[in-house]
Amino acid sequence: MSRHSRIAGTGSALPPDCVSNAELVRRLAARGVETSDDWIVERTGIRQRYLADPDTASSHLATRAARAALEAAGREPAEVDLIIVATSTPDFVFPSTACLVQKALGHPGGAAFDVQAVCSGFVYALATADSMIRTGMATRALVIGAEVFSRILDWNDRGTCVLFGDGAGAVLLEASDEPGVLASRLHADGRHEGILRTPGNVCGGAIIGSPLLTMDGQAVFKLAVSVLDEVGREVLAAAQLPLDQLDWLIPHQANVRILQATARRMGLDPAKVVVTVDQHANTSAASVPLALDLAVRDGRVRNGQHVLLEGVGGGFAWGAVLVRMTGAH
Ligand code: UT7
Repeated sequence: MSRHSRIAGTGSALPPDCVSNAELVRRLAARGVETSDDWIVERTGIRQRYLADPDTASSHLATRAARAALEAAGREPAEVDLIIVATSTPDFVFPSTACLVQKALGHPGGAAFDVQAVCSGFVYALATADSMIRTGMATRALVIGAEVFSRILDWNDRGTCVLFGDGAGAVLLEASDEPGVLASRLHADGRHEGILRTPGNVCGGAIIGSPLLTMDGQAVFKLAVSVLDEVGREVLAAAQLPLDQLDWLIPHQANVRILQATARRMGLDPAKVVVTVDQHANTSAASVPLALDLAVRDGRVRNGQHVLLEGVGGGFAWGAVLVRMTGAH
């Protein structure tokens, strides 16, 4: 009998400060930056985002999401032998955010490391954990996407600062006789590294370069739409699953227009796309597991359903994981 992995539970965490577009417009106006609720909604579909206070780090949100996923699965931290955190906003240069989560959960000994694939981080981490479980290197993994992107935003750049939010999402992935993860594909094209980046580094006690996010929005938009369609088809073909048997598409939540265009290009009913960008804005590596947990908890995603998770973003990196859902209650 071959060894597979399956999702045993999902969880998520948001900081308490929910900032509507109207409130953000007020906060930005106070610093002389002009934007409007109409522009943000029309161009992105975003209506609000959650922003972390200065004392809240990615590891704090990650730990809360991990605890929720453990609780949903009826498991204890002691039963986890692998923690992977996908983040571009780690607490420190090192140690990894995953090690900080492990410390907070109170059970040392298993493997713990971070994955840096920006907005594709969660699907990269999930595919990695699935591979490690299938090869017998791990049995039960916390796979977490956690971000405090508000820390790296240029609040004077209205073209980017209205787009992002903070949060975390997690799944508990465990070894199983029946496949939960059906197929995964990961890709990157480093030639496009310049269109979305935070090109700073720490050197000799100072920041070299810039610690703030910059983006060529239109270039990212075009690439995102084409690769999300391609990788979605690729993974469905790898699993030999016809499109009409796909129950839900959960792509990275960057812009509702990207989600709609992806569904259109794939020939998928737009009602099958889980949309949370209106509520959370773009939370980078956290967006896919946050959306999955929300759709599990509101009863949309049910056990036995086929769910396609897709990431895309800086690197340029993208990927997809197709799961037959288990662990939804
Ligand atoms: O997580 C990684 C993936 N990220 C993404 O997928 C993001 C992909 N890109 C996008 O979602 C869109 O390109 C944006 C939402 C970033 C921008 O939308 P757009 O339709 O491409 O707008 P634009 O950048 O072409 O800007 C159009 C206009 C400009 O004014 P002019 O030059 O036409 O007078 C901007 O200055 O909108 C202006 N603008 C704003 N106006 C009010 C840009 N940002 C704002 C703003 N409020 N916040």
